[in-house]
Amino acid sequence: METRINLSGNTAIVTGGRRQLGAAHAVRLAECGADICLADIAIDNDMEATVERVKATGQKVKALVCDVADRAAVEEMVKTCVSELGGVDILVNNAGISSRETLMEVSEEEWDAIFDINLKGTVLCTQLAATQMIRQGRGGAIINLSSSTGLNANVSRGAYGVSKAGVIMATKLFARELGEHDIRVNAIAPGFTSTARIGGRDGAMFYRGAGETERVMSRLALKRQGEPIDYANVVAFLASDLGAYVTGVTIPVDGGFTIP
Ligand SMILES: NC(=O)c1ccc[n+]([C@@H]2O[C@H](COP(=O)([O-])OP(=O)(O)OC[C@H]3O[C@@H](n4cnc5c(N)ncnc54)[C@H](O)[C@@H]3O)[C@@H](O)[C@H]2O)c1
Repeated sequence: METRINLSGNTAIVTGGRRQLGAAHAVRLAECGADICLADIAIDNDMEATVERVKATGQKVKALVCDVADRAAVEEMVKTCVSELGGVDILVNNAGISSRETLMEVSEEEWDAIFDINLKGTVLCTQLAATQMIRQGRGGAIINLSSSTGLNANVSRGAYGVSKAGVIMATKLFARELGEHDIRVNAIAPGFTSTARIGGRDGAMFYRGAGETERVMSRLALKRQGEPIDYANVVAFLASDLGAYVTGVTIPVDGGFTIP
């Protein structure tokens, strides 16, 4: 019985993989033996740095441009992963954007952008990657990025929170649909991260306003904010055979932020 996370022989797609959490998942999965396909809306210096970090593990890496909200682009991403890396065994639906509006404030344009990327993107990538996994006939693991704001109502992240709650239900539904193919579908719900925050539509990062860090810290049972590796370790566990009997769940990885 395997006692360590061993992903040798697996290929993983990480969407939104050029920086921050996506980069951490990619490097951690590669350290566990997976070859990596990094997909993002742009190949920039951040992407190149992440490619180098993956290469340093000794695993193969392919970086490509893919808008997860565009079905044709997602199809092309899966095709490229198969032709250049030999298949798709793991999908990490990490691409996402945020905004600061409440539900009363959010514009239709902002709502559509958030739902296109966070929820439609997750569904499209899952449909197409899972179709390839079924064709391969050796199972697979899909890990979605929800958020503590998909579990707890945070008024300053209105549309984002609703989209991340949708990711939790999509995770359960896909887990039911794909279980017979030994494809497991799970999610993690990250809390607050010490590094830069998730970006908005223009890619710029949102930083916390005055007092927000103190408010967050006071609710954290573990009294520290998360690091990208805290999330990547749980992603690697869910991707591996150590999580072989886990499907349809969303694991809060938030230092106790969402303890009721
Ligand atoms: N940082 C946090 O504290 C936190 C907390 C909870 C959940 N999350 C979730 O984790 C994931 C990663 O967040 P992050 O903090 O690393 O944010 P980030 O903004 O650094 O990374 C998101 C990545 O997604 C990419 N992306 C955006 N639109 C895309 C599209 N249409 N197609 C492909 N790629 C696209 C961006 O270019 C970026 O590289 C997101 O889904 C986010 O909602 C993050």
